[in-house]
Amino acid sequence: MNPVLKQIIATREVEDKNGNLINIDKTSISYQEGDLIQKYIRHIKAERSLEVGLAYGTSSLYICDALEKTERTAHYVIDPYQNNEGVVWESIGIMNLKKAGFMDFTRFFEEPSHLAITQLEREKVEVDFVFIDGEHTFDHVLVDFFLSDKILRDGGIIVFDDTDWPSIRRACSFIIRNRDYKVLDFLPSYHTKKGLSMKHKLYQNIVYVQETLVPENTYFLPKDAQHGGKIDQMTAGGMLVMQKIKSDTRAASYYNEF
Ligand SMILES: C[S@@+](CC[C@H](N)C(=O)[O-])C[C@H]1O[C@@H](n2cnc3c(N)ncnc32)[C@H](O)[C@@H]1O
Repeated sequence: MNPVLKQIIATREVEDKNGNLINIDKTSISYQEGDLIQKYIRHIKAERSLEVGLAYGTSSLYICDALEKTERTAHYVIDPYQNNEGVVWESIGIMNLKKAGFMDFTRFFEEPSHLAITQLEREKVEVDFVFIDGEHTFDHVLVDFFLSDKILRDGGIIVFDDTDWPSIRRACSFIIRNRDYKVLDFLPSYHTKKGLSMKHKLYQNIVYVQETLVPENTYFLPKDAQHGGKIDQMTAGGMLVMQKIKSDTRAASYYNEF
């Protein structure tokens, strides 16, 4: 494992340009999430990746560390606020990528994701792996998905962070119910001592429903949302891994409730 990533995992801290240490617990993915990302990057031997939301660079380090290193290796990462001095990330994400030796194959876009991903599509870039962890509102996540899908190859993998946020859960619900994507894995928000949590079981149900094409009573249907308080206990875990089956061929009238 790359020593810069190893150090961040051990301390859960990053250093700013003046040597001050900053705790990353509130902003960066956890070790378990990083591990899940690496597992699927390696599973498909991904060489090229796209990431929305750089922040302190933690998830970038996990991604770059796991990419298959060939002459085609490339990491595209987007964050419009990376260099904002004194406000947010203060270029720490880029500094970490440089320290780790990953900037050699990384291209950074300091602009909103909808502009950067569109630019990549114009350049006919194709990626094997996508990680979405930028602006968390429903419409931003859906647009990030829509545009990423245009450059994600068939069989490629997309991972969403924070799928226990209602906005992100809903966007994932749309994808599962309307697009040719298969749920491969997820990280539950918690486990019970007795085994799988309620969330875990619900997720297994989604996979089952997807595989058997029975579109009833999935956790994501709107009627679940009408159960008031229950919806919060029935969140969908912290991270979701999906595989693109094939590019979009839907008829214009195609629509499934989500
Ligand atoms: C939760 S943080 C990402 C954390 C990072 N993935 C990690 O685990 O190390 C969300 C990031 O999205 C960025 N962001 C906000 N709006 C964005 C947009 N429109 N396009 C791309 N990134 C955006 C923020 O600046 C922030 O760095």
